[in-house]
Amino acid sequence: MSGSRVVALGHHQPERVLTNADLEKMVDTDDAWIRQRTGIATRRIASADESVADMAAAAAAKALAASGLSPADIGQVTVATCSAIDRCPSIAAQVANRLQIPAAVCFDLNNACAGFCTALATADHALRAGAARHALVIGAEKMSDLADWTDRSSCILLGDGAGAAVISASDDALIGPVAWGSDPTRNNAVRLVDAWQPRFAQEGQAVFRWATSELPAIAAQACERAGIATTDLAGVVTHQANLRIIEALTRKLKLRDDVVIARDVVESGNTSAASVPLALSKLVERGELPSGRPVLLFAFGGGLSWAGQVITTP
Ligand code: UT7
Repeated sequence: MSGSRVVALGHHQPERVLTNADLEKMVDTDDAWIRQRTGIATRRIASADESVADMAAAAAAKALAASGLSPADIGQVTVATCSAIDRCPSIAAQVANRLQIPAAVCFDLNNACAGFCTALATADHALRAGAARHALVIGAEKMSDLADWTDRSSCILLGDGAGAAVISASDDALIGPVAWGSDPTRNNAVRLVDAWQPRFAQEGQAVFRWATSELPAIAAQACERAGIATTDLAGVVTHQANLRIIEALTRKLKLRDDVVIARDVVESGNTSAASVPLALSKLVERGELPSGRPVLLFAFGGGLSWAGQVITTP
């Protein structure tokens, strides 16, 4: 096999919806500021007893069921997460246990918000190399555990959830070459402070400027590497951090007027490594991205890091 493809998607979000009005009662903020500066209206917050592994397994179970494969077909499980507190067994191993996947290689991957696209690339590489025929790639986060609920500049951004993809080896390379990298001179621009009681912190304006000025050209590289023009894209799913970043970044990509742009940040907030597969899975489920269409995935964040690729919708 010379390539791989996404064959099915799934997602999961916790029941509880946290609105901007709810946040007004918690910190000195207001709905108008949050909507104007971020576009966010709501986010989902997991209960105390709903873990990253619970959400990852729920999303993965849906993707696996939609793929028509059996658990024994899955040779690799990778969970991208930066919020899981349980390190061993890995979240991926816990997912394999719950889904009764008998003998897959299982590991977690932390590349912060760029984690899912990074994991998708590494799974694509593994399948191309013949290390497995089918893989589960999951982004799952409980960012509410990392939120400083006294810091209005960051707690209003974060949400919980998971998205998953089943990918299979194929003759055609329907997961395009990855464009990925990092700028370690800006390590601290997005960070978790205090390793034992970690809390999310960032230099918001610096990250905003970086994302809107330097990343459009890198996102376009993912298209070049896949051999398609940005005007050929049917959809663009970027990291869901801020609607203003999504609008600015996609405006610079020179897209078709009818391109579908993921704006799940409005209802889900920033779910870090879960944001891209969550938004993609929802668009496909709603029929907004039909089968067989080229879609740019592009994520960025802590590191500072980025990763993206063009996939063909399942
Ligand atoms: O996922 C990881 C990657 N991260 C990102 O992509 C995030 C990129 N950055 C951003 O999305 C934006 O910078 C934020 C949404 C984080 C912040 O928006 P901003 O427009 O850059 O606001 P700011 O930090 O410059 O703050 C402007 C003002 C300040 O008040 P003063 O100093 O001008 O009086 C803040 O104290 O807004 C104030 N402020 C708030 N006011 C009401 C900050 N947070 C809030 C709030 N409600 N929640």
